[in-house]
Amino acid sequence: MPRALPPTEENLAEAVRRLKEGGVVAFPTETVYGLGGLTRDVRAIRAIYELKGRPADNPLIAHVLDESMARSLADRFDDRAQRLAAAFWPGPLTLVLPRASDVPVESTSGRPSIAVRSPSHPVARRLLESIGAPISAPSANRSGHISATRAADVAADFAGAGDLLIIDGGDCALGLESTVLDLTGAVPRVLRPGTISAAAVSAVIGPVESSTVHQQSASPGTAPRHYAPQTRARLTSDAELVTALPSGSARAVVLGFARTRVSPPHELIVMPERDHEYAASLYVCLRNADRREANLILIVTPPATSPLWQTIHDRLRRATEVQG
Ligand code: TXA
Ligand code: MG
Repeated sequence: MPRALPPTEENLAEAVRRLKEGGVVAFPTETVYGLGGLTRDVRAIRAIYELKGRPADNPLIAHVLDESMARSLADRFDDRAQRLAAAFWPGPLTLVLPRASDVPVESTSGRPSIAVRSPSHPVARRLLESIGAPISAPSANRSGHISATRAADVAADFAGAGDLLIIDGGDCALGLESTVLDLTGAVPRVLRPGTISAAAVSAVIGPVESSTVHQQSASPGTAPRHYAPQTRARLTSDAELVTALPSGSARAVVLGFARTRVSPPHELIVMPERDHEYAASLYVCLRNADRREANLILIVTPPATSPLWQTIHDRLRRATEVQG
């Protein structure tokens, strides 16, 4: 099992040393943990795909310190990108831009575009500052599994990689992956919703399109079933819960609210009522539910009354999508 180490000077220096040598390091961001390697080092990029078991056609996000580092990766950083970077960076907004020709094709799965974002987490920023070069990092989970929002969850997913260095920066504050916005076309398009809403983006650059979960060709990593627990999971309502619970000896774990009534052998995990708290704890709770080795995870559908709740719904749909 890999060890998670605190972000001391010494451990950060070790992370920088490994990255500079073409290695891979897991580190915290404000959204979820990332599994990073230098964008321009093909050895590191290959190691990331291998460790994650990630399909070769799913491109990576390059993390940058600031706009000027982002410009070094993009063939064009237009006015819209500039305004969005000024409004939301550092933060959970990823921009898909035309790729600069000197970026290795491996880090974008051969695509003519590259996804870039500037994270706000101090540990991610320290690494980027010390190295002075972009770090490509997908979420630090095995491919198809739930993203990791705690160092311990990264360690659990990569239990076989004993020498993986994980910098433990505590629990991720936001808990959901960044908003991915495609700026390669005339009309900007949200490929993956996140905590920065389409409305917030639209307030800065005008009309924005949104792809739904089932229009997936633009962003392969947003396949319908993604961010999923191993145990079968289903959405239900408070009213339908009684009939949704399995009978006989089958056991369910319910992600509900304080008001939800569940009796043994079924178990209740009480979720927060507020959208940002729900978002921050969702993946931890799904991982906990998965560990109970129940027959079924039932998720009581939360409200859809804010953009963040709608993003939460997107992740719940992906977690409960039947494997196709
Ligand atoms: O919050 C986040 O975005 C986290 C942290 C670590 O930054 N990263 C993350 O990476 O969620 P990953 O690899 O799990 O998801 C990246 C998403 C995938 O859906 C991928 O297909 C999409 O971004 N993506 C990356 N490059 C792209 C490109 N050139 N064009 C379209 N989609 C792209
Ligand atoms: Mg991911």
